[in-house]
Amino acid sequence: MAIVAPSILAANFLQLQDVCQLLNASKADWFHLDIMDGRFVPNISFGIPIVEAIKKAASKMLDVHLMIEEPEKYIDDFKKAGADSITVHVEACPHLHRNIQQIKNAGLKAGVALNPHTPICMIENILSDIDMVLIMSVNPGFGGQTFIPHTLHKIKELRKKIDKIAPDVLIEVDGGINLNNAAAIIHSGANALVAGSAIFQTTNPTATIEQFKMII
Ligand code: DX5
Ligand code: ZN
Repeated sequence: MAIVAPSILAANFLQLQDVCQLLNASKADWFHLDIMDGRFVPNISFGIPIVEAIKKAASKMLDVHLMIEEPEKYIDDFKKAGADSITVHVEACPHLHRNIQQIKNAGLKAGVALNPHTPICMIENILSDIDMVLIMSVNPGFGGQTFIPHTLHKIKELRKKIDKIAPDVLIEVDGGINLNNAAAIIHSGANALVAGSAIFQTTNPTATIEQFKMII
């Protein structure tokens, strides 16, 4: 069964403890934490102290998505804060291989994210060194955007490459995912879906997560 990773970005920050308890008790697999620096993306979200606080209340894996420049400066801090997996953007990392080594040496799972315009070939030579590829299906920076349909072709292309080169690598997809497009994304070859608004902007997030799990 595929993984569902609710994005905390869309949750009510005044009730983070309740949100964590809700996710702990739900069928969600991971907590997806979106870190934005106002430089790599045109928005600032939250940082290390919030990750630390969530770690205290969360009983599931913290999937930390760094939408920041110079992520190498903060890998150790995010590890200390409780990240289980760290994903960096290929567009923010001229020395991507070194950054991946840094994440792996810290004992964490390593992911690489691709913006919608970035071709799959950019990560071909690093596929066997990572645990996950994160395909952005919106332009990173904001929750609540519309899924870019071309992403489905990209997932299919990546699935073929991964099956050939590194079959254990997971494909995570992030942005504009809802109960209507989830099945198509999984059929294209994804293993993990991030969803923010589709989960937290419903009256019953627990039931929505369950519906996601049933579909995928
Ligand atoms: C976008 C973030 C996403 C976002 C998804 O930059 O990386 O994780 O929170 O939110 P929705 O599901 O609302 O598109
Ligand atoms: Zn994200």
